[in-house]
Amino acid sequence: MIGSVETAGGRPLAPPVARDKNECILKSKRNRRAGATWVLTAQVRNSGEDGMKTKAALLLEMGRPRPYAKSAPIAIEELDLDGPGPGEVLVEMGAAGLCHSDLSVMNGSRPRPMPMVLGHEAAGVVREMGAGVDGFKPGDHVVFSFVPACRRCPECVSGRPAMCRVGAAANGAGTLLSGARRFRRKGQLVYHHLGVSGFSELSVCSQDSLVKIDPAFPLDKAALFGCAIATGVGAVVNTARVEPASSAAVFGLGGVGLAAVMGAKVAGAYPIVAVDVLANKFELARTLGATHTVDAAKGDPVAQVRELTGGGAAYVFDATGVAKVLEQAFAATTRGGTTVIIGLPHPDHRASLSPLAMVAEERVLKGCYMGSAIPWRDVPRFIELYRAGALPMDAMITGTVALEELNEGFDRLDRGEAVRQILRPNERAA
Ligand SMILES: NC(=O)c1ccc[n+]([C@@H]2O[C@H](COP(=O)([O-])OP(=O)(O)OC[C@H]3O[C@@H](n4cnc5c(N)ncnc54)[C@H](O)[C@@H]3O)[C@@H](O)[C@H]2O)c1
Ligand SMILES: [Zn+2]
Ligand SMILES: [Zn+2]
Repeated sequence: MIGSVETAGGRPLAPPVARDKNECILKSKRNRRAGATWVLTAQVRNSGEDGMKTKAALLLEMGRPRPYAKSAPIAIEELDLDGPGPGEVLVEMGAAGLCHSDLSVMNGSRPRPMPMVLGHEAAGVVREMGAGVDGFKPGDHVVFSFVPACRRCPECVSGRPAMCRVGAAANGAGTLLSGARRFRRKGQLVYHHLGVSGFSELSVCSQDSLVKIDPAFPLDKAALFGCAIATGVGAVVNTARVEPASSAAVFGLGGVGLAAVMGAKVAGAYPIVAVDVLANKFELARTLGATHTVDAAKGDPVAQVRELTGGGAAYVFDATGVAKVLEQAFAATTRGGTTVIIGLPHPDHRASLSPLAMVAEERVLKGCYMGSAIPWRDVPRFIELYRAGALPMDAMITGTVALEELNEGFDRLDRGEAVRQILRPNERAA
């Protein structure tokens, strides 16, 4: 067995962590060696002075006009970083993916407090631990889970850590699970993104944001298992529980939707219909497991999915983030079928669905957050699926970006020219 609700990276449920205001702050000295190795020397101090420095991507404000290359909402700055408090861990970032949920904070579809260090799909190496951290040691390789799980709230104890109410509140407030913030800009605290803030050389996070992984697994691939893969594959195997030989359709072929396509193949679905408005997505979708593609920019996608699936797919996934697409996904679902919404539309946007169809056709509508994942179970097992050749996600990585190129990278994601671009915050040109 790879894991269970009671363990995280092999450790038992942690005892309640004291949130001490007079925190241990690590004074750190960093030496960069070949391959971006950090050497940190720690000493206990009262908070405030002599913290670490980290180069980070700071989103200054939401809603600046496109193209972002011109309006530059993300600035690269050297920030002060307090050391890890109780239950927290200092992580050197190995790699971080550019996800649409970062873009949605930039364009105001996911309103968050500003300024914020973006990035939530990341993997790195543990460098230091605060008091009371019992499952990690320096040198451990970790994938970030973008919902820190408190392990005590009703959702956590019922085995649904992706629904953790304490983690959700902290994420909405732009803090770590404890309510603390560790980045400072000219003395002022700035906000964390989903407890991760992966677009930074170093980050401090709750131990409950981390999943330990095999150090032999490359960090740039590992990063995607924290969001795109956990969410898309989890939507199929956890949220929908797709049965073999049942039909499936996926609307939206970004990193998340393509992971759902791969998940549908793993689950044994047939046919697997991949839908997008951009024809440049179809070749990759077929490589990853789609058996049919539908161009929603040409003709009615609902009629085409219904025709390809003999009257509607048993499972339809909406990974677009466009509220009106939920109406199409619902209409493309067969009698007795399940529609799963994964995309995150603007909070004010609405979709119109038929309550009568839900009753008379016994339809199921499910929301899916972070693939309904139990991260410390699912991240390692999805990595094993990758190693077995069942999740060929390498093809989803369409490029790399430097910290200084993030605005351009998000323009590419916005235009649908990129699937997943990888940032390695500690990599420097030779
Ligand atoms: N539920 C979760 O836990 C979770 C996790 C990660 C991302 N998300 C959300 O999932 C969505 C997708 O994320 P991503 O990173 O894959 O984004 P992406 O931008 O890479 O992909 C979105 C895709 O949807 C397509 N699309 C847009 N309008 C469409 C339409 N009308 N019909 C069909 N296709 C359409 C785009 O062309 C694009 O290929 C976003 O809303 C993101 O915020 C949710
Ligand atoms: Zn994401
Ligand atoms: Zn919880």
